[in-house]
Amino acid sequence: MRGKRVLLGITGGIAAYKIAGLIRLLRKEGADVKCIMTPASCDFISPLTIATLSEHPVQIEFWDRRNGSWTNHVDLGLWPDLFLITPLTANTLAKLAHGYADNLLTATYLSARCPVMIAPAMDLDMYAHLTTTENLERLRGHGVRVLEAQYGELASGLVGQGRMMEPEDQLKEVKNFFQGAHDLEGKRVLITAGPTYEKIDPVRFIGNHSSGKMGYRLAESALRRGAEVILVSGPSAQRLEHPALQLIRVESALEMLEEVKKQWEQCDLGIFAAAVADYRPAEATDQKIKKKEDEMSIRLVKNPDILAWAGSVKKESQFLVGFALETNDAVRHAEEKRARKNLDLIVLNTLEEAGSGFQVDTNRVHLIDRNNKLTSFELKEKSVVAEDIIEFIKSRL
Ligand code: C5P
Repeated sequence: MRGKRVLLGITGGIAAYKIAGLIRLLRKEGADVKCIMTPASCDFISPLTIATLSEHPVQIEFWDRRNGSWTNHVDLGLWPDLFLITPLTANTLAKLAHGYADNLLTATYLSARCPVMIAPAMDLDMYAHLTTTENLERLRGHGVRVLEAQYGELASGLVGQGRMMEPEDQLKEVKNFFQGAHDLEGKRVLITAGPTYEKIDPVRFIGNHSSGKMGYRLAESALRRGAEVILVSGPSAQRLEHPALQLIRVESALEMLEEVKKQWEQCDLGIFAAAVADYRPAEATDQKIKKKEDEMSIRLVKNPDILAWAGSVKKESQFLVGFALETNDAVRHAEEKRARKNLDLIVLNTLEEAGSGFQVDTNRVHLIDRNNKLTSFELKEKSVVAEDIIEFIKSRL
């Protein structure tokens, strides 16, 4: 990262004390680091510490009272190659999401022309609050890269999601940003994500709890590395916008298959993360089914296996990845599935581990390749898991 300019924005959360370590790590890698602090953050870590480690004066106010000079947020915004706001409090997050420019940091965010990363850190209930979720989604939609808060012990003593991503992992993200920006350039990637909804009648469906998060994070990671991504998504609240992204929204497994059939041949890599319903109602009615008898049954028929279809027509040059969620004898079942569906790699989730699976933001995965070699990862936030998976795939392409 020699010569790369990183602007750090530090806001007033307890995790601010860890930024001293982050600055050291970035400096060791050769990055040029300048810091803006919000006034509140100065209660958590001294500007003198930050200035000394970054080897630049720290900017806090628009107005340098001692010298009577104006700190130009426009110049600051033009300086960096990357603006990383870490830790990011719920308060500053809300300001960024709504265009406030009430301090030097928020004003610089609006002026910055470079890519922006944020590392939110707050107590678990603040993090889980719908307002926070919406604000994060809003920034994501504006192209901001979110280094998601981690699960673990919090300063309040409570345990949950809200811990700032550790400085070592933030460094990895920054390094990836500078080094890995082009390593999937020229590749076309097809990703499936989310659940499918199988229609019963105009108001009811059979669905599942998949949020789509894993697939969207994989898409984000591939886009960041320069790939062209076609994301075929079942109903999901996730959002993603990018000039190199083609987002195709579908409802049912049959619709997903139709889109995948149109796209797969032109793609180099397929990652099928969707939780496709295995069965659909044999007949969907156009009228709402009335409540009559005490019991009713719906006849289900099997859905096509989209991944197995892609495996069956896969060319030598294509690389195909599937997911497996197994509860017993997990590795053996996943190995069998990988072989049966003609996959190059299968990502195994087990539900045995707390923090893994559908309704959580973290996941622990194991990767099984064509030689049945198993590579296991720690429990991590899904965006970090996505990075691990993409990194692994890239090493095999
Ligand atoms: O066989 P199983 O459903 O456990 O396999 C899971 C993998 O297969 C996932 O990658 C999922 O996206 C894919 N799949 C599919 N179409 C189906 C069922 C699963 O693409 N109908």
